[in-house]
Amino acid sequence: MVMPRPRPHALPRAVLFDAYGTLFDVHSVALLAEQLFPGQGERLSLLWRERQIDYTRLLTMSGRYRPFWEVTRAALRFAALRLALPLDAAGEDRLMNQYRHLSAFPEARDVLAALHRAAVPAGILSNGDPDMLAVAVKSAGFAAWLDPLLSVHAVQRYKTDAAAYALGPQALRLAARDILFVSSNGWDAIGATWYGYTTLWVNRNGAPLEQLDCEPSHTGTSLRAVLDLLLPVKA
Ligand code: LAC
Repeated sequence: MVMPRPRPHALPRAVLFDAYGTLFDVHSVALLAEQLFPGQGERLSLLWRERQIDYTRLLTMSGRYRPFWEVTRAALRFAALRLALPLDAAGEDRLMNQYRHLSAFPEARDVLAALHRAAVPAGILSNGDPDMLAVAVKSAGFAAWLDPLLSVHAVQRYKTDAAAYALGPQALRLAARDILFVSSNGWDAIGATWYGYTTLWVNRNGAPLEQLDCEPSHTGTSLRAVLDLLLPVKA
């Protein structure tokens, strides 16, 4: 009896990137924080980021919403208070402005250009509000390569709420499993996997896997893993 040959695993047909920490490097914020508060920059930026994500969860779980820009500012204020740092209005504005114009990870440009050449649709699905995303994408020079820019602002619920992840399949008219969702945030990779996406966790710093009995579909160490997966011959 001839056994049917296994069908090759279908490749995802589009890519959605998380924004902050995935395409855009939040480290430049730590450098400025260190200039403003020598010896405390790293702690401030870590606590800021942690609180920012905590606040998104607090708001969504409580059925409330504030745009990510406001959440980011509120988290910065909390982090400065918690560390007893004298953050004045000018320092706050400088840090927030830095957040608005984050640099992209060095390999992002090549990866997005390669996807574009191969006609693989690539967009963003982020907690960032539409203004923040538009400015970040424009200042990185990625506007021609990323479409759509999906913001949870449309549903006013933050990731990992299903309504946030549902924006991807709705906009791309594809099943979630046919979309490669790429995030450097372990929790986001898990949330998207639970939702049903094919996922790539870009684990740049060797972070441990979240211990929730869920593994992303793929793990890599830089955004280049997207090309290894989707364009293996050309990459
Ligand atoms: C985002 C945050 C989670 O861009 O990094 O959605």
